[in-house]
Amino acid sequence: MLIHLQEPIRRDERIKTMHQKPFVVWLTGLSGSGKSTLASAVEKKLLEKGFKTFLLDGDLIRNGLNKDLGFSKEDRKENIRRIGEVCKILNEAGLIVITAFISPFRSDREFVRSLIPSSDFAEVYVNSSLETCETRDVKGLYSKARKGLILEFTGISSPYEEPLNPELILHTDNEPEEVSLSILSDYILKKISLAL
Ligand code: ADX
Repeated sequence: MLIHLQEPIRRDERIKTMHQKPFVVWLTGLSGSGKSTLASAVEKKLLEKGFKTFLLDGDLIRNGLNKDLGFSKEDRKENIRRIGEVCKILNEAGLIVITAFISPFRSDREFVRSLIPSSDFAEVYVNSSLETCETRDVKGLYSKARKGLILEFTGISSPYEEPLNPELILHTDNEPEEVSLSILSDYILKKISLAL
């Protein structure tokens, strides 16, 4: 039987129904730098203002979609590649996506950037020194990494390549959390409001 196929819905048609500018905020930084805390706090602020958001962070993704991956360079590349593709889909759905992954390799972050329209993407460097993250050691992982109980740990036995040209840097080393949060939320609100 002949099926009458409809024209596929265009990206802009779908996005128009969301009444907001889609945006991907890519937080990168060492473990313990404050990415997850900032990401969930900023998502809450945006939700309270009525924006439609989605938060992707390590716990969610590494326990689900990417639970087959470890921390070798290849696995991290695959981790970030898949997350990038998810961001692309959510961007096309019109959402404001906040991500929190170490994403230590520049080439992987550049790959994600290449997937998303440039006006819809910001790389945010959550910059806390290794010394600070290690002193905080919220999850006790740095101490395990120093003892050799965790291998290929970012900052200890695996590199972190600092962003060269991030759209925003948050100095979570010496800035109070509320200050970093308000810099981040002001930045996002400016970006998503400009286009409305
Ligand atoms: S990434 O490098 O592939 O971007 P991702 O952000 O998903 O890493 O996961 C990082 C989290 O996994 C850390 O915050 C930490 O809790 C945990 N983790 C476990 N093993 C390692 C490791 N070898 N290196 C870094 N983080 C690790």
